[in-house]
Amino acid sequence: MIDLRSDTVTRPTEAMRKAMAQAEVGDDVYEEDPTINRLQELAAELMGKEAALFVPTGTMGNLVALLAHCERGQEILLGDNSHVFYYEVGGASVVGGLAFHTLPNDRFGMIDPAMVAGAIRTPDIHFAQTGLLCLENTHNRAGGTVLSKEQIDQLCQVAHDRDVPVHLDGARIFNAASFLELPVAQLVENLDSVQFCLSKGLAAPAGSIVVGNRNFIAKARKMRKMLGGGMRQAGVLAAAGIIALTEMTQRLEEDHYNARRFAQSLAWIDGFDLDLETVQTNIVAVNLNEKTGTAAEWVAKLKDNGILAGAAGPRRLRFVFHNDVDRAGLEKALSTISNLAS
Ligand SMILES: Cc1ncc(COP(=O)(O)O)c(C=O)c1O
Repeated sequence: MIDLRSDTVTRPTEAMRKAMAQAEVGDDVYEEDPTINRLQELAAELMGKEAALFVPTGTMGNLVALLAHCERGQEILLGDNSHVFYYEVGGASVVGGLAFHTLPNDRFGMIDPAMVAGAIRTPDIHFAQTGLLCLENTHNRAGGTVLSKEQIDQLCQVAHDRDVPVHLDGARIFNAASFLELPVAQLVENLDSVQFCLSKGLAAPAGSIVVGNRNFIAKARKMRKMLGGGMRQAGVLAAAGIIALTEMTQRLEEDHYNARRFAQSLAWIDGFDLDLETVQTNIVAVNLNEKTGTAAEWVAKLKDNGILAGAAGPRRLRFVFHNDVDRAGLEKALSTISNLAS
């Protein structure tokens, strides 16, 4: 099977498995796990922030960040196609008493700065207060598209001018940095906090990191405990996370190359509609027309022929490139799809 459903399906590398077996561990709720401490220091340094916190998942990373930034009854501004709004079970509302105020994402996952300015609440007895602006880079539902540093900075300025902090769901921030050919610290310079995943394109078996200033991370640590995310001897996981950060970020451009080649070839197939401008990193979204069939039909047909793909909508297929799909896998996927489409 060639598994193109997501980069979350990546398995830990041999180097990760070895490091995991040898990891020095301690109780992380007492902040005594040396491997987690090393991962957190490394992550904070790479991202240019004061402190970092290891969390089990991206979803928990975003949730602890939202809870640490906001008070109950506040409102979060975020894109209507954002992962936090779309796929995180409304956690911020359920657990934190926070309201989502969505703004339209354009096809690259950008939000209009003027709309953000207009949506930030003024002091008024009738209004919930704006507690946070939440961005996403790369943007999952837009198809792995990238916000530039200038776009992020523009949105940060609008929010910061009104004393609203900005959090980034940077699950795939290293894909964005690789596309932009920028050091990741520079890209996230003006953001107050960032969540990024170790377990997607970076191939660790589990784990995400939240970064920000020391005070924010202290609050996030408490929120993580409240959510049941205090993990004890999780240095065995952090050991893989260290390899993810030191050895796996440089190879993401290979996934981007494969995604681009795949998309450019599929675009020639009749009935496969691709927006090639949005194929910037490791995700390829394909829209199907009435004649081509539904995404569910194609997912089943592809599975029967050894290819796993995702359905991102009734007529939208999603293919994600990652460490466990090499050039031979890419070519096989392409020839299988061409044969099925003809
Ligand atoms: C943009 C984005 N944010 C957050 C997450 C959540 O990560 P996790 O699956 O580790 O909870 C994902 C997962 O796919 C994602 O794509």
